[in-house]
Amino acid sequence: MSRLIVISNRVSAPTAEQPSAQGGLAVALTAALREADGIWFGWSGQTGETGDLKFETYDGVTSATIDLPEQDVEEYYDGYANRTLWPLFHYRLGLTEFERDFQGGYERVNRLFADVISPHIEPNDLVWVHDYHMIPLGWMLRQQGIKSRLGFFLHIPWPPARLLIALPEHRRLVEALFGYDVVGFQTQEWLETFHDYVEREMGGTIGENGDVTVGGRTIKAIACPIGIDAKEFIANANGPTAQATHERMMESVTGRDLIVGVDRLDYSKGIEERFNGYQRYLETRPEMRTNVSLLQIAPPSRATVQSYQEIRATLDALSGRINGAFAEIDWVPLRYVNRGLPRDVLAGAYRAARVGLVTPLRDGMNLVAKEFVAAQDPEDPGVLILSRFAGAAEQLTEALLINPYSPDEMADAIEQALAMPPDERIARWRKMYDNVVNEDVIWWRKRFTDVLTAVEPVAA
Ligand code: ADP
Ligand code: G6P
Repeated sequence: MSRLIVISNRVSAPTAEQPSAQGGLAVALTAALREADGIWFGWSGQTGETGDLKFETYDGVTSATIDLPEQDVEEYYDGYANRTLWPLFHYRLGLTEFERDFQGGYERVNRLFADVISPHIEPNDLVWVHDYHMIPLGWMLRQQGIKSRLGFFLHIPWPPARLLIALPEHRRLVEALFGYDVVGFQTQEWLETFHDYVEREMGGTIGENGDVTVGGRTIKAIACPIGIDAKEFIANANGPTAQATHERMMESVTGRDLIVGVDRLDYSKGIEERFNGYQRYLETRPEMRTNVSLLQIAPPSRATVQSYQEIRATLDALSGRINGAFAEIDWVPLRYVNRGLPRDVLAGAYRAARVGLVTPLRDGMNLVAKEFVAAQDPEDPGVLILSRFAGAAEQLTEALLINPYSPDEMADAIEQALAMPPDERIARWRKMYDNVVNEDVIWWRKRFTDVLTAVEPVAA
């Protein structure tokens, strides 16, 4: 069995400080790392002089992290990753900043990772790199003489060629992907937009079985949608904390229907558009006003980046305006909470909701949609309203799929969801639930690593 090496900007392996690993990725990878005696490499999240990698083994899983100097954090993480690639890959050219210094910092940090990690890679290892922070890493590892099998998974969308070419160094960035053996995308749509770029801009060809060839080098490009840790989530939703949360929430809404939204506070999540859609619902259905309540949970994210400060200010103002315009002395239409919740509390909140409102303007996948489905009561499930622009819409086709830019469509979907008869709710939910359970995060990990394992390592 090959050893697994995982590399990502954030490392969510369990540690003595944080013993229960957070999130689906952590769950998918820690068990595999434990079995395969692997290592998870990445940034420590700390700013400081770059020293050596710090290794820690906790509960059979080894992580190795490194601090980054302030300038690197500004140019690589805040800069190129979150002010250039994130907005551009989420189709937001107007928010995208193009600075040579950012690109310089990005390449410098990727080179640093290649330098410090390559001595720890052995020829038979499976190396799996994650997300937009680390696109050039595979290529840089090759330059260090690494011949192991290298895989890359992009957690966010792949933008259309006509958008991507706005990035001055687009060609260099995409060429670097050809350092990997396998490149994975969340959906068929992102895979096709990648194919389109390769054909249009690089004169490449798309072959059988996911083969993509440019100038004599062939890699495999696949669509491989990430899932959630469905078992854990279902157990959570049935556990005592979720039940207590459920009861507390039902008491707080006193018989009204609860609509819930849960997101990192990010402009890609369409929270402003969600509030506008909800406002349209309240305006156009005055008789329903005091029958519903929207709970939006949105912990701040990437708060040093200006576009994130702006969306936060916009939402503060808009939530205040909605409550100011519609609240009664004994009812507020919108509860807006800027804090994260523990996962078992979150499961209870999803389960208490009649409607889950997941309305990103663009999203690689969107795990909240899958968590909402997993948390429902099989006998009385809530309804998922899902943006057609979320990757999850390719799998969760039984959701009420909407265009999040249209407040009218959103208001209509809220009305339809609240009026939906139990039979229809159960039938729609059942199909989505089967998908969430069958294509879970372990399925995803296995599928990707199986393709990577089957690759012939680069000839020595
Ligand atoms: P992204 O990765 O862009 O943040 P996803 O929906 O794919 O979006 O994943 C978000 C993850 O973060 C989910 O597992 C979700 O439960 C978690 N999360 C988001 N908002 C909160 C919150 N307010 N409290 C706790 N967890 C949250
Ligand atoms: C998205 C990205 C991840 C990232 C996460 C949280 O899911 O795809 O790579 O880790 O958001 O963002 P942060 O900037 O806090 O790591």
